[in-house]
Amino acid sequence: MILLTGGAGYIGSHTCVELQEANYDIVIADNLSNSHIESIDRIYEITGKRPAFYDTDLLDGEGLNAIFEENQIEAVIHFGGLKAVGESVAEPLKYYRNNIAGTVNLLEVMKQHNVKNLVFSSSATVYGDPHSVPIQEHFALTATNPYGRTKLMIEEMLKDLYHADPEWSISILRYFNPVGAHESGLIGEDPNGIPNNLFPFIAQVAIGSRSCLHIFGDDYPTADGTGVRDYIHVMDLANGHVKALEKNLYSTGTDAYNLGTGIGYSVLQMVRAFEKVNQVGIPYKVMSRRQGDIAECYADSSKANSELNWYATRGISQMCRDAWNWQVKNPSGYKSHAFS
Ligand code: NAD
Ligand code: UFG
Repeated sequence: MILLTGGAGYIGSHTCVELQEANYDIVIADNLSNSHIESIDRIYEITGKRPAFYDTDLLDGEGLNAIFEENQIEAVIHFGGLKAVGESVAEPLKYYRNNIAGTVNLLEVMKQHNVKNLVFSSSATVYGDPHSVPIQEHFALTATNPYGRTKLMIEEMLKDLYHADPEWSISILRYFNPVGAHESGLIGEDPNGIPNNLFPFIAQVAIGSRSCLHIFGDDYPTADGTGVRDYIHVMDLANGHVKALEKNLYSTGTDAYNLGTGIGYSVLQMVRAFEKVNQVGIPYKVMSRRQGDIAECYADSSKANSELNWYATRGISQMCRDAWNWQVKNPSGYKSHAFS
């Protein structure tokens, strides 16, 4: 059994599907603070297998312990955490408690049960504003906000843990910009309130629930002046977890891997691709830069290619098509109950 903390969320639910299709049995622990129980039914609809589900908070050590008592957990993929950068600036203690204390609890319970195999969701945010692109894993790490600091601190914690006990197998996955949805349109990204991220915002403008996209700055030193990012299809990202898990099951150690496509696209390129692929209009207005944003960020993923045998195979047309398919089938996210 593989335990997915935060497995009801966006990346966790897609990874659950990918793992079940590779014949792993899954247990999910999620407090549903940023997800819906409906996602579990949808996973079942896609795979025909229902993951065991525990409505458990990572801060609840006894609840976590019960999951390990009741299931034969071999490895953990740790998605559970809060991820809104702006909120982390306004409420840093909430982020430190939830992400840091939650992770310490999880690692303690894993240790008690002699489960020493972990895949952790980190982020390209740990590179701050990189001195050059593409970004390699050995680049300097820094954080510019409390959310990013929780990722950096957890990475450090995991390295300390391995140094203290070399029986651990730990893969740290640094995601670039996950977008899109499972091709069925049954699961996808369902942000609360106004989306912070570009893709869900574009999809909500396309469906008419928001009037226009605000492009944050067109004066960056990039080809068209808008910010450049490495967008990666969430199913490719999900597959990266299967590959990391497989590596962990056969070796000990701690390693970090970039998961991106290696290609940077600008905001305007993404808008135009979305319009063309889906035959919809995306009205936009150029605004001033968003505080904390960087000009350009894309991955060198050759380490994940060679050490995990992982490759991103889906391009931006598929990212745009699948994001739109999910949005059309679920205009108000999981609350739409389009399939019930
Ligand atoms: P998400 O919010 O959809 O999923 C996170 C899940 O964790 C949610 O279901 C939430 O309910 C759960 N959770 C939060 N705190 C919890 C707690 N204390 N106990 C139990 N469950 C808890 O986010 P996502 O986009 O799927 O992100 C998954 C992970 O990947 C996060 O750790 C995030 O920081 C990281 N990440 C995401 C992105 C991105 O752009 N989406 C980029 C880099 C890294
Ligand atoms: N953007 C807009 N308008 C919007 C939203 C975003 O123009 O309404 C622009 C941003 O300025 C940026 C690009 O679109 O140039 C991408 O922005 P996102 O907010 O989608 O993503 P970020 O690269 O800022 O950050 C995301 C996650 C972080 C994570 C980082 C690296 O939100 O948590 O990717 O993985 F750390």
